Amino acid sequence: MNTNTKYLGIDIESPIVAGSCGLTNDIENLKKLESAGAGAIVIKSVFEEQIIYDIKHSLNVMAPTDNYGMSYEYIAAHVADDSLKKHFDLISEAKKALHIPIIGSINCYSFENWMTYTKRFQDAGCDALELNLAILPYETSTSYEDVDRLFSDIINTLKKSVSIPVSIKVGTNFTDMANFMQRISWMGIDGITMFNKPINVDIDVDTLQLKHAPSLSSPDEIYNTLRWIAILSKKVRCDISASTGVHTAEDVVKLLLAGAGTVQVVSCLYKNGVEYMRNLNEGLRAWMEGKGYESLNDFKGKLAVKQGEQASLFFRTQFMKHFAQI
Ligand SMILES: Cc1cc2nc3c(=O)[nH]c(=O)nc-3n(C[C@H](O)[C@H](O)[C@H](O)COP(=O)(O)O)c2cc1C
Repeated sequence: MNTNTKYLGIDIESPIVAGSCGLTNDIENLKKLESAGAGAIVIKSVFEEQIIYDIKHSLNVMAPTDNYGMSYEYIAAHVADDSLKKHFDLISEAKKALHIPIIGSINCYSFENWMTYTKRFQDAGCDALELNLAILPYETSTSYEDVDRLFSDIINTLKKSVSIPVSIKVGTNFTDMANFMQRISWMGIDGITMFNKPINVDIDVDTLQLKHAPSLSSPDEIYNTLRWIAILSKKVRCDISASTGVHTAEDVVKLLLAGAGTVQVVSCLYKNGVEYMRNLNEGLRAWMEGKGYESLNDFKGKLAVKQGEQASLFFRTQFMKHFAQI
């Protein structure tokens, strides 16, 4: 019995992947995750804001009152390079020390600023690139056509700039979720990670200030992931990696049954330590053994919505069963 599979065209030995987060920004954690059986690791993202902040901060420290004139662009490029260098050094070090695939990650909000960096990920040795495009269209002037155009411009340009596989990590805020996911899967990307969990905003009623809501997911958050993966896994033309709400080996099994190719974990590693990756792998193997399954293909997608089958099985039907005993 084995848990071998392919993700983004790359052979991996487990479908359980360490998702992008602060834990994957440290070489010792990366080694521990590999020895605990992670199939692949998505490195902490480079955030566009992080680069811009580093540039501004360094310019202020150097000469707060100066107006840099023509030298600004030169200094900014140099500082950005330095900030990114640490990131790419980690990727190179990970590639030397580990055997499992290392997936670079970019989290961007504009089209212009980051495209120049993508090639650097490939040059640093990344096996693939995950682009976190959890864009929230918060301007009333932004239409769904604008969002559509932004995604397709980004995907088309990205595919031209790198030759390594590319996956897109998306949020859940789309007018036409099913149709949109299918459309982006036809644009030549290798995978979709469903879903990013954005940092939510909360309000402190004592100080009347905004604060960030808890960043870790709760186990209940798996249900939205499960529903959409079951609905879409047989309708998209690329790999699906599940993300958000995976806390146990049983959760991993459920998402594979729904048709995910791989399952990413983050919050459960924060809660239980990176070694918890081992428990997840052991749990998956134990379940497969109990069911007599020899490989992931024996059960992957068994409970996905099949062609011609009603997707309402994952929505209205359950509602009717629960509330109206129909
Ligand atoms: C502390 C923390 C840092 C994160 N950093 C990133 C990041 O740099 N890039 C990214 O794409 N996602 C990031 N995420 C989101 C996770 O990759 C993941 O999509 C999300 O936490 C949902 O998965 P989970 O339920 O397993 O936590 C972060 C999540 C947490 C909790």
